[in-house]
Amino acid sequence: MQKVTLNTLKDMKSAGNKIACLTAYDAGFAKVVDSAGMDVILVGDSLGMVLHGENTTLKVSMNDMIYHTRIVKTGCERALIVGDMPFMSYATLAQALGNAARLMSEGGAEVVKVEGGAVIADTINHLGQHGIPVCAHLGLTPQSVHKLGGYHVQGRDEETARQILSDAKLLEQAGAVMLVLECVPHQLAAEITKSLSIPVIGIGAGAQCDGQVLVIYDILGITERQLRFSKNFLEPGTSIQSAIENYIKAVRTGEFPATEHQY
Ligand code: KIV
Repeated sequence: MQKVTLNTLKDMKSAGNKIACLTAYDAGFAKVVDSAGMDVILVGDSLGMVLHGENTTLKVSMNDMIYHTRIVKTGCERALIVGDMPFMSYATLAQALGNAARLMSEGGAEVVKVEGGAVIADTINHLGQHGIPVCAHLGLTPQSVHKLGGYHVQGRDEETARQILSDAKLLEQAGAVMLVLECVPHQLAAEITKSLSIPVIGIGAGAQCDGQVLVIYDILGITERQLRFSKNFLEPGTSIQSAIENYIKAVRTGEFPATEHQY
């Protein structure tokens, strides 16, 4: 078992080996995901939507992120752990440094993720100067959902596409060690991936990125979200919901527990 580090990801990019990344929010799932061989586990603030049932990630707190990162870390030995910095936790340099330090020291994050373009460059640089590796996040940045007017594909027009590309280069120069690129046209994602030397992990950004990330609740069919860029990876005809329905049926019919389940 070789621990995944940023050097591993850099080597994977150079060798053209794709990076697999998935979210997790607790030790149980983290253990399953980690032992399956995942390269990166993202403790995403998407937990505000899939765990808390909110429509946005905006109510997620720093303490939420530290708690979930800590329990994910407990279940995980191999994967690199990226922890999300929640909404407004990095609005000033001092806030960013204090909160990122907590996410690493109390939560055990190995990389912290922040959303935003050029405006976040100084923050990335500041954290880097203090030994904190930062993953940038461009394209559809869910913490800006109200500014963006909803969850829409970004960079469809020439001007926005150019802006995202130039932000990506700027954030790499500022010291970002990875980039998550969410919901942008695949041609733009391919160009960005080619232009950067840091690993680019896509979600709804096409197949040319260095790796892919999805939300675990989506690939297990737990969420009802119909997302074009995601996929239910459970065997066709099975679902976590149908397993629970089968349990209820078995209890009601008396099929469970059977003799082998009793002492
Ligand atoms: O919060 C999250 O899970 C994310 C991914 C969707 C990239 O940021």
